[in-house]
Amino acid sequence: MTIRAKLSSRILHSGMASRIMSAEDAAALIGPGATIGMSGFTGSGYPKAVPVALAARIEASHAAGTPFRVRILTGASTGPELDGALARADGIDFRLPYNSDPLLRDRINRGEMDYVDMHLSQVAPMVWEGLYGNLDFAVVEVSGITADGALIPSSSVGNNKTWIDRADKVILEVNRWQSEALDGMHDIYYGTRLPPDRMPIPLTAPDQRIGEPHFRIDMSKVVAVVETDSPDRNAPFSAPDGTAKAIAGHLIDFLAHEVKMGRLPRALLPLQSGVGNVPNAVMAGLIDSPFEPMTAFTEVIQDGMLDMIDAGKLRMASATAFSLSPERATDLNARAEHYRTKLILRPQEISNHPELVRRLGCIAMNGLIEADIYGNVNSTHVMGSKIQNGIGGSGDFARNAYMSIFMTPSTAKGGKISAIVPMASHTDHISQDVQVIVTEQGLADLRGLAPRKRAEKIIANCAHPDYRPMLEDYFARARRESFGQHAPHLLTEALSWHQRFVETGSMK
Ligand code: COA
Repeated sequence: MTIRAKLSSRILHSGMASRIMSAEDAAALIGPGATIGMSGFTGSGYPKAVPVALAARIEASHAAGTPFRVRILTGASTGPELDGALARADGIDFRLPYNSDPLLRDRINRGEMDYVDMHLSQVAPMVWEGLYGNLDFAVVEVSGITADGALIPSSSVGNNKTWIDRADKVILEVNRWQSEALDGMHDIYYGTRLPPDRMPIPLTAPDQRIGEPHFRIDMSKVVAVVETDSPDRNAPFSAPDGTAKAIAGHLIDFLAHEVKMGRLPRALLPLQSGVGNVPNAVMAGLIDSPFEPMTAFTEVIQDGMLDMIDAGKLRMASATAFSLSPERATDLNARAEHYRTKLILRPQEISNHPELVRRLGCIAMNGLIEADIYGNVNSTHVMGSKIQNGIGGSGDFARNAYMSIFMTPSTAKGGKISAIVPMASHTDHISQDVQVIVTEQGLADLRGLAPRKRAEKIIANCAHPDYRPMLEDYFARARRESFGQHAPHLLTEALSWHQRFVETGSMK
């Protein structure tokens, strides 16, 4: 069988097969100023050919002296073939809702384009409200097209339902690299509405299916079908180091204590685990924990969760996307049949829905950039002004979780930065949404504590010894000199640690 015939076996609908064309021809349909909803979430399920071809067009246009930029909406972060290629071409005028691409991050932080960092659960409803204008195109990766013209999602669902429904024109990338056995893993819920027509979402357990396995589509909108055979951006995880293991250890001891106190069941409550090496290490630590059978109602499935499933500790996981190492992605594709009954991928407006996070009582575990002595958390802006990635789903979960935990190494940049500071230089999660902070130094359970007690506990349990005396000194003087004594601060000094880092390269 030729490659061409093999690829086309993913496109069973004859009408769709007749719209197959090259990525270059598909990209030629998109003009300057277009607003495009693209698939992709945490490096999985993003289109890999059309954005590259579009970037080449944009570069050629710029070389000829003609401006050409587009507006890009996605699920979350994508990969070098999308954000990277378009950023290199200076082709993005406006982007939402989350990015982790270094080239795009640089453009954003140089002020060369607009970026809206927003709660991931709110993207779809706000697009339905029309707040981001007309959606000219959807460019969506799928793993196949059924004979009756439905779309089989690939390794992320994200906002694809909304893009497909709302866009004037749809370009599909059918990626043969994605396992055919993904079919059946997805649960696409079509019951969301805007107020005043909103109804309760009928999901009461993480393993419940309330939707359909495929995307519906009005086929008259499909202007191009492009075949690809390309892997997702699967980045390797570093093996848990001493810091990550210590954080995981403190956290697991705390969860065991909560079980003992009767505040958590032995199987815990549905876990939400954020992105990055530390959350992945916590999952690794949970394999040896006494809790079982656990479930996850989360945003992304990383390697650690698949390991937990293999170890029989995790019964199932609900999310909107995978974010796996290359080895684990290959393994998932080879064994998708095995995992299909244990994994559910949903639209991100459902995986991250505040109503569901609150109802299910999720245990939210997310990373942070810095926390202040009262437990206000900055997840996004380095030194208050440079965006790292974005808030992602951390706000969707933290505010609504049964238990909201943030974890971080106590220092960054080789000890030059303290993750615990007098005042957060930017706040994503207000202290009311932050119940527990964990570093490798220890854990601060802040529930039930008033601000001054929170400060004492965070400084004593979480700060690095290099910075603890400085924080104690700041807090002691604020206790004497602050304008108010509810949450004492020295306003002329509160952000001086950040200014010192900007000027000298160290907070010390
Ligand atoms: N000041 C300056 N830089 C800091 C910092 C601080 N206080 N804390 C971390 N950083 C830098 C690190 O040095 C690193 O930089 P590098 O890439 O140049 O090496 C980078 O931020 C990432 O930090 P790292 O320690 O590798 O942690 P991580 O991968 O766990 O990421 C966040 C931490 C906060 C960036 C990440 O969790 C995030 O983006 N969170 C927001 C979104 C979210 O929570 N999503 C999950 C919801 S479901």
